[in-house]
Amino acid sequence: VNHLLGIEPLSAEDIHLILDTAKNFKEVINRPIKKVPSLRDITVANLFFENSTRTKLSFELAEKRLSADVINFSASGSSVKKGETLIDTVNNVLAMKVDMVVMRHPNPGAPVFLSKNVDTCVINAGDGTHEHPTQALLDSFSIQQKLGTVAGKKVVIVGDILHSRVALSNIYCLKKLGAEVMVCGPKTLIPKHIHELGVEVSTNLDDAIAWCDVANMLRIQLERQKDKYFPSLREYSNMFGLTKERLDRIGKPITVMHPGPINRGVEITSDVADSDSSIILEQVENGVAVRMAVLYLLASKIKLKSE
Ligand code: CP
Repeated sequence: VNHLLGIEPLSAEDIHLILDTAKNFKEVINRPIKKVPSLRDITVANLFFENSTRTKLSFELAEKRLSADVINFSASGSSVKKGETLIDTVNNVLAMKVDMVVMRHPNPGAPVFLSKNVDTCVINAGDGTHEHPTQALLDSFSIQQKLGTVAGKKVVIVGDILHSRVALSNIYCLKKLGAEVMVCGPKTLIPKHIHELGVEVSTNLDDAIAWCDVANMLRIQLERQKDKYFPSLREYSNMFGLTKERLDRIGKPITVMHPGPINRGVEITSDVADSDSSIILEQVENGVAVRMAVLYLLASKIKLKSE
């Protein structure tokens, strides 16, 4: 069985196949009849052990647009709260004849662990500070849709790089597609060995946005910070918050992205988030087509195996 556990194991060819398939599905879901029968007789379980709005709803909609049968699970309110393990939980779900599992989990590596211990196709919907592969795929797809290509574009990822699975998956994806990548943020929130991934590092937002074609603004993940946050949120927004004044100063248009959820007034001001430079809601729209592509390509392998 094949899985989508992260972007790191994928080749550029794999990523191009997913993005090309997503392009076809984007056309399909813009038609009056949005549903296709591709996943008829396939059952997908969405297992969310951590909160989500966009990823959870987007996977569910993608599955329904593909005619899959869908069941949804949130750890809160489940028997996980009575001490049931991850493997037992998933094996009980699989006993109901489920074919694919989409899982978000707070522990890095949980989807890899699951893929080695249960007999199902696993799609990682975000695992702790590790990877968020479908977010990176939809981000690259959105850049491609807006700018025609990812190759050769200069993309800066701004914010809490240390705790961000979105940053890591984006770095892998953008580099594999031939983009130039920079990370920008406070020194305390940039991993020491990040250069090894072939990215530039800046601690100055004005320099970074002057350099880039695309700025992907990340949220400060207070929930993942063990120590007291430094700098303070006010200092952070002064130094790393994307404002209209900053964008006006660079004197060229750039594309502004954010994976959501936004902390308005911290990493980005409302006048930027809601401006014509922003493709934040296009990212959300594209998420459905990209997740349809991932589900379709993995389900095709399940179908082949059962024939
Ligand atoms: N971008 C993203 O993963 O958002 P959610 O946490 O709401 O799914």
